[in-house]
Amino acid sequence: MKNTVVTFRNAKAEGKRLSMLTAYDYSTAKLQDEAGINGILVGDSLGNVVLGYDDTIPVTMEDMIHHGAAVARGAKDALVVIDMPFMSYQISVEDALRNAGRLMKEGHAGAVKLEGGEEVCPQIRAIVNAGIPVMAHLGLTPQSIHAFGGFKVQGKTEAAAKKLLEDAKRVQEAGAFSVVLEAVPSKLAAMITEELEIPTIGIGAGNGCDGQILVYQDMLGMFSDFTPKFVKRYANVGEVMKEAFRGYIEEVESGAFPAKENEYAVDDSVIEKLY
Ligand code: KIV
Repeated sequence: MKNTVVTFRNAKAEGKRLSMLTAYDYSTAKLQDEAGINGILVGDSLGNVVLGYDDTIPVTMEDMIHHGAAVARGAKDALVVIDMPFMSYQISVEDALRNAGRLMKEGHAGAVKLEGGEEVCPQIRAIVNAGIPVMAHLGLTPQSIHAFGGFKVQGKTEAAAKKLLEDAKRVQEAGAFSVVLEAVPSKLAAMITEELEIPTIGIGAGNGCDGQILVYQDMLGMFSDFTPKFVKRYANVGEVMKEAFRGYIEEVESGAFPAKENEYAVDDSVIEKLY
């Protein structure tokens, strides 16, 4: 069944938990879709896990459109949410609207996601008014990593917790259909979840959220540069891949690959005429 923002809204009302994963290409999106995932985020974590940057800052609109459109082609039933990259929405409401529109028209998104609370509410309002669903993102917002001074759990002091709760209410009022809570203490995330009418999607925010999201390379053991505590590894695909790569290298070197069954045939008479 096709997942839409209505599915997300109804899931909260019905107490059904939502599953989301990131994807950045057609084949992965297709596999996740066939497995029955509710939503696929084309995250700007693309910068780290696909493009090899240290953070998400260098990711461009062109990157997001290119990968977003590939994911959209693979996702039949999942809601495809595409991240708005750094500086594609912070400068002005007009910029935000134009870039959100591009992610829909060229990236074939079902919704867009942007980071921030009260300060980006004018952008959320304008994008939603244009008929584009917005997922908000609070807590550890990776585009502000330099302001945070690193990957740190957010909302640990009374003032920070209060601000997070307020921001969550503000983005809901501005029209966001859902909000990601990243690296937030689980009790605070559960409280925010209870206070909101829109579903919360947690990543490092405990079990009290309405849904969960993980970066797929993290949960498959394919990315070892940095593994946060909140990641659960569901398979060691990285090792399986390395083993297969080693096997291939060995067989190429020994001449065992390609074998007869991997070859194409041609009539001997054709070859003989070439001599
Ligand atoms: O870019 C991303 O992958 C994200 C998730 C971590 C929520 O924003």
